[in-house]
Amino acid sequence: MNLSDIGILVERKFRDSKKKSNKRKAASEPQNEEATAKKIKMPDLKTTITIEDATEEERNNFEDHKKSLPIFAVKQKLIKRMKEENRLVVIGETGSGKTTQIPQYIYNDILNGKGKIAITQPRRVAAISVAERVALEMNTPIGNEVGYCVRFEESFSPATKILYMTDGMLMRHATLNRLLTQYSYIIIDEAHERTVHTDVLLSIIKKAQKERQKRHIEDLKIIIMSATMDVGKLSEYFDKCPILYIEGRLHPISIKFTEDKIDDYLFACLTTVMQIHSKAPPQHDVLVFLTGQDEIENFVRSLRQMGKNCKTDIDLTVLPMYAALPFALQKRVFEDTPKNTRKVIVATNIAETSITISGIKYVVDSGMVKAKLHKPSSGLDILTVVRISQSQAWQRSGRAGRQSAGTCYRVYDKNTFDLMPANSIPEILRCNIASVTLQLLSLGIKNTLTFDFVDKPSEESLNSAVDQLSWLQAIEKDKGNELHLTEIGKRMAAFPLDPRLGRVLLAAEKNGCLEEILTVVSMLSADSVMLISADQREKAEAVRRKFQSVEGDHITLLNVYKSYKGSKKNKVWCKENFINHRNMKIVIQIRKQLRKICIDQNMTIKSCGEDRSLVRKSLVHGLFMNAAQLHSDGLYSTIMDRKMVNIHPSSVLFRSKPGYVIYSELVQTNKCYIRDLSLIDPQWLFEISPEFVSKRLIRQ
Ligand code: CDP
Ligand code: MG
Repeated sequence: MNLSDIGILVERKFRDSKKKSNKRKAASEPQNEEATAKKIKMPDLKTTITIEDATEEERNNFEDHKKSLPIFAVKQKLIKRMKEENRLVVIGETGSGKTTQIPQYIYNDILNGKGKIAITQPRRVAAISVAERVALEMNTPIGNEVGYCVRFEESFSPATKILYMTDGMLMRHATLNRLLTQYSYIIIDEAHERTVHTDVLLSIIKKAQKERQKRHIEDLKIIIMSATMDVGKLSEYFDKCPILYIEGRLHPISIKFTEDKIDDYLFACLTTVMQIHSKAPPQHDVLVFLTGQDEIENFVRSLRQMGKNCKTDIDLTVLPMYAALPFALQKRVFEDTPKNTRKVIVATNIAETSITISGIKYVVDSGMVKAKLHKPSSGLDILTVVRISQSQAWQRSGRAGRQSAGTCYRVYDKNTFDLMPANSIPEILRCNIASVTLQLLSLGIKNTLTFDFVDKPSEESLNSAVDQLSWLQAIEKDKGNELHLTEIGKRMAAFPLDPRLGRVLLAAEKNGCLEEILTVVSMLSADSVMLISADQREKAEAVRRKFQSVEGDHITLLNVYKSYKGSKKNKVWCKENFINHRNMKIVIQIRKQLRKICIDQNMTIKSCGEDRSLVRKSLVHGLFMNAAQLHSDGLYSTIMDRKMVNIHPSSVLFRSKPGYVIYSELVQTNKCYIRDLSLIDPQWLFEISPEFVSKRLIRQ
């Protein structure tokens, strides 16, 4: 359904949740939905991001603000425990002050500026915004005492004592210094999210701590922070370390479910927001949880349109929030709005725990999230929309009661909620772990089957990662059956990329087309640059036809990039060609970083000129496991596991249907689609990986 087509609103019926849950599953789950924690009024603080923006008054206000946070009540106790214990788990409500205050407590009251503190975040955005915030609170420019370091972007110096970083980045630091001796404290934040990197880091720091003790190197102190209660396993993993609970504050939140089962959650969310908007007073802001960038952008557009047509006097300010959104636009969600307006923020699960937006009175929860699922049999990750867990649902509801009583509209029925899993499954049990396996090997871990994981992936999944890396010639087994990185593997590990794409870069150097491949890989690493325009689809397609290549989508992406560069990275050019300017800028950033790594590795960066077959051939070096063969019925079968797939309609090869293709992505919706394709010569498959291909490809 096209959301902008919705004319009339349907009155959506909700019912109150009566049944109390008998177990607290998350810190933000109200014990009794109508009577929760103490009411403490928050200071009326404007969230300011850069130090220049803060007035003198606001700077003084930070002291009051810090004292008003729930964590302040337990500051001295917390400091005492952090001094005494080498390992500690801290649980606290989102917004209680864990991420911003604990590093400052350690810096000021424990280390007195002497040691260095690393704090990891699962998301780049959170790492940057929180670092900026703490720098502001400490009245120092970002990059001095307080810094950040995320993939493709950093701001720190030798003076940096508090370093916010992504968990993936700390893992990279560990490959250079296994004992992480540069840090006195390592804080793993948002541990409840259990990303692959968080999980692996937990193992790495556990090992580093033991090793440092053994070698009498300065103790490494570890703090694990979580917003949910299910941390028993983490404490258990760290030899039953103590768990501290910071009592949070939540105002009463009333929870409402829909009466009926919902088929179209987007439509239901849209009508729910409009229903709130037609009744609630201004400044009662709304937070909507959806799943991803495209969906959010479409939703925002429809909602803005509907806001204009709506009869109320209150203005509607609709803002998107997702990880790939450029920082300058993300900042807008924190800004105050004029008096007679209502702010509606449409976010991914990023707003569940890692960022805090004040003024939210209503939460509209779609109950959905985009998650990666892995099929070890095919070695593939599939990005798909799935139901959230109950623990996530409670986190989302909690966002409505931070400053005063609020309401959470769950746009699903009670029965659906009851069927949701209690907690989310850790990512490591769901994803392709080839990349992690490569990093573990570069950390000197020789057998991933015996590695001390918090939750061990299945043997099938571990073996499949090893197989994939062997096919890519990244690893080999020695006589004692131990795994080693090959020269190729070592070079691949230097790139913060899926090993398949790392392999493509190495092949491109040999083929003399690294310039082109750097572009293609950067385009694939960012979100799509093709604007999806619901109302001007045909026009967009017609304008973009000039970029299309019969060789496939990868070469088409290359053409887009070249024209964009030719336009001098012009914004108007992007608009005219239905190209997403924001994402293009991200592509440029990624490319710069990857190019730098290539130069650091002494790689020769050449261009192949007009012979694009070299580009496609280089892609096959990494993506030969993602080859598919055409069948007489027009469907393709993957050569990996003979799965029947369709070419995605967005592909330039959708109509021409060549005999053999490679693809970058497999997406499962109602059908199974392959996306981002290149036409290939099957002979290349035999040349590049004869062992892999000969068993699988049916010669025609
Ligand atoms: O980590 P936790 O969720 O416990 O809280 P936090 O991130 O330390 O945030 C504590 C408070 O700092 C929030 O309630 C916000 O008022 C404020 N804050 C902010 O204004 N801007 C940020 N970027 C981060 C926090
Ligand atoms: Mg936090």
